[in-house]
Amino acid sequence: MNTKQDFIAVFDSGVGGISVLRHLRRLMPGERYLYFGDSANAPYGSRTTEEVRALTLAAVEKLLEAYRIKALVIACNTATAAAVKNVREKYPELIVVGIEPALKVAADHFPGGRVGVMATEVTLREEKFDTLLHRFDESCSVAKIPAPGLVELIEHGKGDSEEAEALLNRILTPYRDTLDALVLGCTHYPFAQKAIGHILGERVVLLDGGSGTARETKRRLEAAGLLENGPGQVVITNSLEDEAVIRLSYRLLET
Ligand code: DGL
Repeated sequence: MNTKQDFIAVFDSGVGGISVLRHLRRLMPGERYLYFGDSANAPYGSRTTEEVRALTLAAVEKLLEAYRIKALVIACNTATAAAVKNVREKYPELIVVGIEPALKVAADHFPGGRVGVMATEVTLREEKFDTLLHRFDESCSVAKIPAPGLVELIEHGKGDSEEAEALLNRILTPYRDTLDALVLGCTHYPFAQKAIGHILGERVVLLDGGSGTARETKRRLEAAGLLENGPGQVVITNSLEDEAVIRLSYRLLET
């Protein structure tokens, strides 16, 4: 039996899910959050689907063994695309909330518009994304934009660096003046938002799925009578045995 005081676990391949944790904490400050980043195995986005699935299931199993958890937020588009179905099948009693690229928000705001979806290779090639795409490709034109190398920079605290800007310049220059909105379909990418904004200009709206995921988590907890209104707590853990990644995570949480 879960209690309101149990943790909301937030899982990502690394530090990216902190961008979702920021939304969760803003919306539900009285909750206890347990964050787990699998930075030792990041990036997930260039792995095979089977690898991402196995890593996700192993991480979730460990978390559930070690902590009292009332809800799991898979704050990783890649892990959601590859494994949310499997996690739900394995833990039918658990509240499981995944994240997906905010294409619906983009299509609602820009009917007939031009939308880029920047995400990992796994997310862009999975069936789940194709299904999402087919729901909206009549209402707007969608460009798939992979961004290899960006997650690695963000994992090293360099989302806002010249290196990131140079990489993003190469990736995004062909789309300059061609987009109405860019969906940040990887939870790491909000940490490079400044550089992305510089390159695309203010006219292009940047969207991510973090706030929708937080709202959905709140809705599910409310429906289960499990919303907590305590002093609030955030515990950050990581598979990398390195204090630097924990420090980076707390720093990103406060940005
Ligand atoms: N943060 C993850 C996502 O939302 C993926 C990063 C990675 O490639 O590990 O897709």
